[in-house]
Amino acid sequence: MRQMSTPRDPDGYIGIDVGTQGLKAVVVDDHGQVVFTAFHAYATHSPQAGWREQDPRDWEKALTQTLHNISTAGLPVRYRGIGVSGQMHTTVVTNESGDPLYPAMLWSDQRTANYARQLETRYGLQALLELTGNKPLSNFSLLRVLWLQEQRHDVYQNISHVAVAKDWIRFQLTGRWATDVTDASGTYLLNVKKRHWAGELLSSLDIPEKWWGAVFESAEIVGTMHYGPPEFHGLPVVAGSGDQAASAVGTGIALGDLGISLGTSGVLFWPLERYQLPSHPSVHVFCHAEEKTWHWMSVTQSAALSLAWLRDQMFPLKSYRDLDQIAESAPQGSEGLLFLPYLNGERAPIMNPAAEGGFFGLSYRHHQSHVIRAVLEGVAYSLRHCYMTMNPGGLMNPIRMILTGGGAKSRLWAQILADVMGHDIIAADDPGAAVGAAWLVRSAITGTHDKMAVKQTSIYHPEHCKVYDQGFLDYQRLVNSLTPLWDGKPH
Ligand code: XUL
Repeated sequence: MRQMSTPRDPDGYIGIDVGTQGLKAVVVDDHGQVVFTAFHAYATHSPQAGWREQDPRDWEKALTQTLHNISTAGLPVRYRGIGVSGQMHTTVVTNESGDPLYPAMLWSDQRTANYARQLETRYGLQALLELTGNKPLSNFSLLRVLWLQEQRHDVYQNISHVAVAKDWIRFQLTGRWATDVTDASGTYLLNVKKRHWAGELLSSLDIPEKWWGAVFESAEIVGTMHYGPPEFHGLPVVAGSGDQAASAVGTGIALGDLGISLGTSGVLFWPLERYQLPSHPSVHVFCHAEEKTWHWMSVTQSAALSLAWLRDQMFPLKSYRDLDQIAESAPQGSEGLLFLPYLNGERAPIMNPAAEGGFFGLSYRHHQSHVIRAVLEGVAYSLRHCYMTMNPGGLMNPIRMILTGGGAKSRLWAQILADVMGHDIIAADDPGAAVGAAWLVRSAITGTHDKMAVKQTSIYHPEHCKVYDQGFLDYQRLVNSLTPLWDGKPH
């Protein structure tokens, strides 16, 4: 039975995350405690190898359903506002009314590799770094638009708006087009240093700036809600942020912390007080959701996705806990069996959309347990590989390495990560990007900038560094020797 809220009820903030697996909506109280969660899954389609698409209308159905779940829960809270977050780079092109003209191309879609190369040849990497701070990669929104321009001109010529996932959802909520500095960074059209559109690049490519909406700081209110259950109408809606920055906010990642997320993708997140170019082009420098700050980010594309693939394809009747138990019986280093987690090409650090996954070193003595452990180890090696390119001189010296994401629930995986990184790993209860989004709207409404506290669940100390140092060297050697093979493949 739905109750009316009263002025004496505690404040509640709604956070929405348009994730890769589904849409999550949470209600968070003034202390950051999650008081309600609703989730609705949707499908990802892969009509051709390397293509990854979703239907924005499926996001909208999930939005309607989860808001309905919140409304009918009759929570004793006074709703104050709504925050949004979502998969970065996932791009929707629409007509004037916001109707999608083409499926959303996901962050992991690799069809645009050629266009990234063409951009670099046309402008030169140095000039592009000055304009945007980043190397052009197939994942970024601009590349999808360039692909449509050439491959689907019928669609391109009807574009009125281009939106990243959560910006399309915010348009449904408020009827207003906008984006925020974090997702704008991932379009490849933002001057990340100055936090405004890179007008020079837009005009040189003849792409209208108005397609992309005004850019706001993540904790700025950009409209009011007129969608879904009537009790939410009129609530302020904040610009919000891409899921990685929102997760960092929700987890409480501070300066000096290295966030490590073991979600579908594996992400290293390093907050910066000042804008600073990273020393390797696979590391992104993006605006952070906290005003006047930035962050570096390195993304290995298939982290928990690799384990999900292994379970779904090879062990469909087993739970993740079962897989951990089986893997525990194999020794550290899996007796030389290596796994490359490039199930969908790779972004960092090798930036090779043609990279392929695989097992190497299989022999008669390997069992199921080695195969599962090798997958956990391969993802950890890839994260170390990312870290080495982010921190080549060893100057970063993280105070804490904080592990979040679904993979953080595996004690075995967290221990392997501590061993491979040679550093204590703090596993944190992961409230997720939706909570960060709710916290952003709280900041906007209360004008406070207090950080959420890290909810540490366990700490893992490095124990088996020697065997993993050797394993990592073998992993790197394998990647280096396969690179010419991948480079020789037609794209
Ligand atoms: C970040 C990225 C992914 C998505 C996942 O650059 O591409 O981590 O944000 O949702």
